[in-house]
Amino acid sequence: MKAVAVTPGTPNSVHLEEISKPSVSDIAGGTGVLVRVLKVGVDATDREINEALYGNAPEGDQHLVIGHECFGVVEEVGENVRRVKPGDYVTATVRRPGGSIYDLIGTNDMTSEEEYYERGINLRHGFMTEYFVDEEEYIVRVPEGLRHLHVLMEPMSCAAKAVHQAYEAQARMKVWRPQVAYVLGSGQIGLLATLVLKLRGLEVYTLARGVAPNLKSEIVTGLEATYVSTAETSMADLVTQTGRPDLIIDATGSSQLAFEAMEHLGLNGVLVWTSITGGDRSIEVPSDQINLQWVLGNKLLLGSVNANRGHFEMGIKDLALGEMMFPRVLEKILTHPVDGLDSYEEMMRLLVEDKSALKVYVNVADE
Ligand code: BGC
Ligand code: ZN
Repeated sequence: MKAVAVTPGTPNSVHLEEISKPSVSDIAGGTGVLVRVLKVGVDATDREINEALYGNAPEGDQHLVIGHECFGVVEEVGENVRRVKPGDYVTATVRRPGGSIYDLIGTNDMTSEEEYYERGINLRHGFMTEYFVDEEEYIVRVPEGLRHLHVLMEPMSCAAKAVHQAYEAQARMKVWRPQVAYVLGSGQIGLLATLVLKLRGLEVYTLARGVAPNLKSEIVTGLEATYVSTAETSMADLVTQTGRPDLIIDATGSSQLAFEAMEHLGLNGVLVWTSITGGDRSIEVPSDQINLQWVLGNKLLLGSVNANRGHFEMGIKDLALGEMMFPRVLEKILTHPVDGLDSYEEMMRLLVEDKSALKVYVNVADE
């Protein structure tokens, strides 16, 4: 069967690879789930992997099958599988366990080992192929009523984790009643984080470069949050209008903006960084001022990567609630489909060049 792969270390190496079809019996103990892939989304991580800035092949292989945002249908299950059955719509978590205590309790996303294993990204093959098999533990059911949001499950899990981690960490406050949140960036993570925060009842400002109206501002407004173009209003100006935010989620992909956010967070607040900035840019920051304000304000900086099964489940619940509260808004994120694994070049081209492509995904197979 066909798979879309890269040769890690070689820039622009995306190609089709012929691989063998997996089977439930590849997984010991009767807990394997064979999934027929319907759709796979791509994001900046896939772009960086193809630019050879990121990612590694599994040991013993030259190639890495890419794709970590998957949506499919269960084809067959091992005899001990209980959670899903053939015909169910599913997605899969991305990170697989290493050996740390956090991996052993199912929180692979919090591994304390330097090396991490991620399907489609690092040391494990991904989902951009016709079928994949995995342990039941890593397969998450998607309700049929959300099937039109298909490849958003994985990015949503990362947004859900970022917000959940912020609340977990703020348990340090004993009482924490955040009112104002800023989301920096209006890519998929920014938009999905906007939803998660709205559902928690916050006043949400989503900041992005483009001047409204545009698709992103339409989605933000559809989620009853406020879209702010930084071309018109700086973060500092916004603070004079809203007061300092209690929570900031940075999803800009710009380390400069991630640091700029440090100058605006409110007292006792939390700033969450979610971008994987693969470059090596450095900037000057007003370090004395930031240091002083952060100490005097008991402020917290939190990094958040990946997501475990629990975050997928939270994210899926929020998508379901989001559809009830803001019907037909979230599907607007899914802007750029390409048809079939053969279209991998077009997929990469859209991902790299098309600035209007909010979400590129591959229709791998029809249902
Ligand atoms: C993926 C995460 C992953 C991260 C770092 C992101 O694009 O969505 O699941 O942990 O890259 O590799
Ligand atoms: Zn990703």
